[in-house]
Amino acid sequence: MLSKLKFLVFASFIAAVSANPVVRNLILHEQRESIPKGFVKIGSASEEQVLNLRLSLVSSDAPGLENALYAVSTPDSARYGQHLTKEEVEEFVKPSQDSATKVNAFLASHNIQAKSISPAGDWLAFSVPVSKANEMFNADFSVFKHQESGTQYVRTLSYSIPTDLQGHLNLVHPTVTFERPFSAPVVSSPRMSIPKAQNVTTLASVPSSCDSEITPACLQALYNIPDTLATQSSNGLGVAGFLEQFVSEDDLELFLESLRPDLPSSTTFTLQTLDDGSNPQGAGQAGLEANLDIQYTIGVASGVPTTFISVGDTNSDGQLGGFLDIINFLLSEDNPPFVLTTSYGFNEEDISPSLASVLCNAYAQLGTRGTSILFASGDGGVSGSQSQDCTEFVPTFPSSCPFLTSVGATAGITETAADLSAGGFSNVFGIPSYQASAVSSYLSELGSTNDGLFNTTGRAYPDVSAQGENVLIAINDGGELVQGTSCSSPIFASVIALLNDRLIAAGKSPLGFLNPFLYSSVGANALNDVTSGSNPGCGTNGFPATTGWDPVTGLGTPDFAKLLTAIGL
Ligand SMILES: *[C@@H]1O[C@H](CO)[C@@H](O)[C@H](O)[C@H]1NC(C)=O
Ligand SMILES: *[C@@H]1O[C@H](CO)[C@@H](O)[C@H](O)[C@H]1NC(C)=O
Repeated sequence: MLSKLKFLVFASFIAAVSANPVVRNLILHEQRESIPKGFVKIGSASEEQVLNLRLSLVSSDAPGLENALYAVSTPDSARYGQHLTKEEVEEFVKPSQDSATKVNAFLASHNIQAKSISPAGDWLAFSVPVSKANEMFNADFSVFKHQESGTQYVRTLSYSIPTDLQGHLNLVHPTVTFERPFSAPVVSSPRMSIPKAQNVTTLASVPSSCDSEITPACLQALYNIPDTLATQSSNGLGVAGFLEQFVSEDDLELFLESLRPDLPSSTTFTLQTLDDGSNPQGAGQAGLEANLDIQYTIGVASGVPTTFISVGDTNSDGQLGGFLDIINFLLSEDNPPFVLTTSYGFNEEDISPSLASVLCNAYAQLGTRGTSILFASGDGGVSGSQSQDCTEFVPTFPSSCPFLTSVGATAGITETAADLSAGGFSNVFGIPSYQASAVSSYLSELGSTNDGLFNTTGRAYPDVSAQGENVLIAINDGGELVQGTSCSSPIFASVIALLNDRLIAAGKSPLGFLNPFLYSSVGANALNDVTSGSNPGCGTNGFPATTGWDPVTGLGTPDFAKLLTAIGL
């Protein structure tokens, strides 16, 4: 059996709410069938508690944006590489005058002044007490607790919108989305002193030590990554940070001294903050995830200007609020980084489908402007972001969004799929055309294995993979081996950032949204196909890796030298 529909959207009954000051007809807009697994309801939310609500307005031309994304990202298109400007993208995204007028009239009728929180004006934010929010949206805002973490959220299992806003308002957030905090890489070793590097000129062959311990030198040898410094100052690699994960500058220095002694000693990152994010350096404040993500971008993408974007907690709306804020923040920049890597995510079923779509479209906007967006696929094999009990496979988000590149994990120097590598098929997004043929070949080879446990019509992920086990990082002045797709995404992102450096030096556009290129035969042939291993979960062996694309390792791992040829350099 495929998963029971967990959300009901646009059900067709009309609830008349007799509220002051204006009587409006409301229609049910989004509803959850039940409280999601892992959460309990504690009780009603206090009437006076203030909610920071956000409204997403329908874009004036979403299909136009998607067409533009593919036109500039598909290698045989006449417009390949002709990325759009901020203003050009905003033309597609901004709500129509009609939508803006209707939504503002609704808010005005409740004496609410909202402020725009996205550059195109498609997101509005305002604060109201729970009592008012319940009345405006016929909702039942209550307090729910995530049992494992103890985190409490104010959410409602359903809400309605005025009938005249249908087709104008995508969603109200936070309402029916119950995101749970996601993912840190797992330490797989006792603490150790961090060894001095094998000499870090690109090795002719991969040393056998790389089988038990991955370092930047191992990746250079395995993936033909150059150790020469990038030259282009307009290039940029962004690393997203959430969950109060901070990068230790001392650990970075130790890491580079030990494992990249050839890099200039001044090599570091730029800090950007939003939502009161920060990067404190006190004892014990270094985050495993943040240290990993920065060490395996700066330590691999030699000389590429790298930014750590620390998203704080003042969005007062859980991690999803931070995800919305970072993408709107980057969309508001004139020169966002050409590559963005994020090692955090969610199980798709926790996020409302309309919210997932709106976020996915925001990634499409940044892709259309020329940014390659990479996300770790998750660490639970077919059971999702983390290993968990399940009776059906659990897709992850944002990896299930077709407008970004999802990165799974491999292990060993004769690369095999890492068991933990999350992969599978979306229940929200359909199969994009760039992967239709690769996925259909896989499914016919798979036959009836795992029948009924996943959605054969969904967007399939990951797209690619990179090393994700026994990765050596420096933390708290020592070394640790970590594992997770959290390792893989920064590594793959670094290869893309180095390719962009060469492209910019040659006067060409950066790669932007990668998938149409990666799935082309030229792109796929420049990757190392990984054909063994699988991603067990939910009481099954998961999906087997095979020749060609598979939902464990995607198309495979990078080969910088082959990719350079594939992009015509
Ligand atoms: C490492 O490189 C340095 C400087 O290039 C050289 O002096 C040294 O002999 C090398 N060590 C090994 C073990 O190859
Ligand atoms: C399967 O995926 C499609 C998207 O391709 C979606 O429309 C459909 O609802 C999904 N089915 C289930 C049972 O989730």
